[in-house]
Amino acid sequence: MKALVIYHSQEHGNTELMAQAVADGLKESGLQVVTLNTNEDRLDCSTYPHFSCIAIGTPDYFSYLAGGLKMFLDDHYIEEQRGMEGMFNKPVALFYSHGGGGKVRQPLVSLFKRLGPIVGEPVESYLKPTEKVLERCRKLGRVLAAAAK
Ligand SMILES: Cc1cc2nc3c(=O)[nH]c(=O)nc-3n(C[C@H](O)[C@H](O)[C@H](O)COP(=O)(O)O)c2cc1C
Repeated sequence: MKALVIYHSQEHGNTELMAQAVADGLKESGLQVVTLNTNEDRLDCSTYPHFSCIAIGTPDYFSYLAGGLKMFLDDHYIEEQRGMEGMFNKPVALFYSHGGGGKVRQPLVSLFKRLGPIVGEPVESYLKPTEKVLERCRKLGRVLAAAAK
C-alpha cells in the first residue's frame, strides 16, 4: 500500500519536519510513502487513486491554508469532475504549523473532510516542532496506516 504525504513548507521548514515524522510513522507500519511539498512541485491528481491514505499538512497563512494545498484541492475536484474513480473515501490525517494563531485548523478540517474520513486528531505545532510534537506526528502516521485500505 502506498501513502501520500502532501504538504506546503516554505518559510522555516517547520511543516516539512512534521511531514517527515508523519512519513516515518507510515513507513514504520510498512507503507510506501510519496512525499510532496507543494512549494516545490504540483501533484498530478490523476495519480491520486493509487494512494491508500493521505496526510495533509500546511502552515497557517492568514488563518487559512497555503495556496499550494488549495491548488491541490482544486485539481482534485477537477479530476473528480472528469469522472476519475477512486478520488474519495480514503482516510485523511491532518497537521499544521503556525506562528501563534493557528486558526487554519477550522478551514483545514472543513475543506479536506470532503476527501474522506479524518483519522486521529489534527497535530499542531507552534513554529518549529518539538520532539513531543514530532512523536505525535509519527503516531498520526501509524494511526493513518492502520486505517488505510
Ligand atoms: C504569508 C504568511 C502568513 C502567515 N500568517 C499566519 C497567521 O495568520 N497565523 C499564524 O499563526 N501564523 C502565520 N504565519 C506563520 C507561519 O504559519 C509559521 O511560521 C509556519 O510555521 C511556517 O511554516 P513553514 O516553515 O513550514 O513554512 C504566516 C507566515 C507567512 C509567511
